[in-house]
Amino acid sequence: MTTHHIALVPGDGIGTEVLPPARRVLDAVSRRHGFRLAYTTYDDWSCASYLREGAMMPDDGLDQLRDKDAILLGAVGHPDVPDHVSLWGLLIPIRRGFQQYVNLRPIRVFRGVDSPVRGALPGEVDLVVVRENTEGEYSEIGGRLNRGLPEELAVQEAVFTRTGVTRVVDYAFGLAADRGSRLTSATKSNGIVHTMPFWDELVAACGAGHPDVAWEQEHVDALAAKLVLEPARYDVIVASNLFGDVLSDLAAAVAGSIGIAPAANLNPERTFPSMFEPVHGSAPDIAGRGVANPLGAIWSAALMLDHLGHQEAAGDVTNAIATLLATTDVRTPDLGGTASTEHFTEAILQLL
Ligand code: NAI
Ligand code: MG
Repeated sequence: MTTHHIALVPGDGIGTEVLPPARRVLDAVSRRHGFRLAYTTYDDWSCASYLREGAMMPDDGLDQLRDKDAILLGAVGHPDVPDHVSLWGLLIPIRRGFQQYVNLRPIRVFRGVDSPVRGALPGEVDLVVVRENTEGEYSEIGGRLNRGLPEELAVQEAVFTRTGVTRVVDYAFGLAADRGSRLTSATKSNGIVHTMPFWDELVAACGAGHPDVAWEQEHVDALAAKLVLEPARYDVIVASNLFGDVLSDLAAAVAGSIGIAPAANLNPERTFPSMFEPVHGSAPDIAGRGVANPLGAIWSAALMLDHLGHQEAAGDVTNAIATLLATTDVRTPDLGGTASTEHFTEAILQLL
């Protein structure tokens, strides 16, 4: 029997509440589909350990993960730890160290979930944001001068490389070809006059190599507005690190709740493990109450199964999510219900 070695990093807050449900779902489908998942849990990689020991993870953290087949992460973040510390102390080193240059964020409006947007109908909104995940606007290059003085200034450089842009855009074109769909590139070349025209040129070059895929580019501000007004017109959206981050949270909200949205951080070459995590954070406002929506983590686990080559098992999980939402009124409070995380998880396991 195939065994996949999975690293579980629950993190902080509701991250620790949504990973156990994801694991129960994984155990249920793996048994049925005849493969094994062996877990190593990294409970103390978190803001709590940063507050105790001054580090989000040990110095050899990446080495501990390197031989795993995949990483499933809850969320990191704590009110007493600045967000850039938790992000740059754990998530970003893993994304960059393991060349997880594709951040894949599927968005669907499920039957039975009310979108806050009138025009977002179930079955019609089904899109994927492909976000560049290792460079772009999230860069360490820059600095601050004259701290505290009236002359204080901050400079931050965005970094776009031919290799970095081409590989993620190529991936997005390939995905659009597989889905038989269109591709939209988010740009802002009217305002950002160096990096964005470069991005546009590289998108056009990739597009020429994919004559089967119809594509267009839109300025990110107009694209954001249209995502609200006409979400069904989009299928694959490719965007830089910052634009993709913002657009995917927006699209997740259009779909009804950020608690459902999943993400995959992919190293498509499989030289390194890929990482799967819900889009949401540690939600300190509801942490510890047992009411977090586990669907984002469960759907992320399904993306992991898909990456590991278990498409049928992954399909079982997404079908169970869709069926639960369409045929029952079991809901966590973020979706307008009263179910606990535990009760919601039991309902999914019943369907599986
Ligand atoms: P958040 O996603 O944690 O919460 C935003 C709002 O959505 C809150 O009202 C929360 O209660 C609700 N929410 C989120 N996930 C939910 C779920 N599964 N079920 C029900 N309700 C849910 O974002 P926020 O408040 O901006 O950040 C909180 C902390 O999380 C910060 O420290 C932030 O840096 C961190 N964070 C970490 C991420 C990660 O680890 N990938 C991603 C985003 C934020
Ligand atoms: Mg975000």
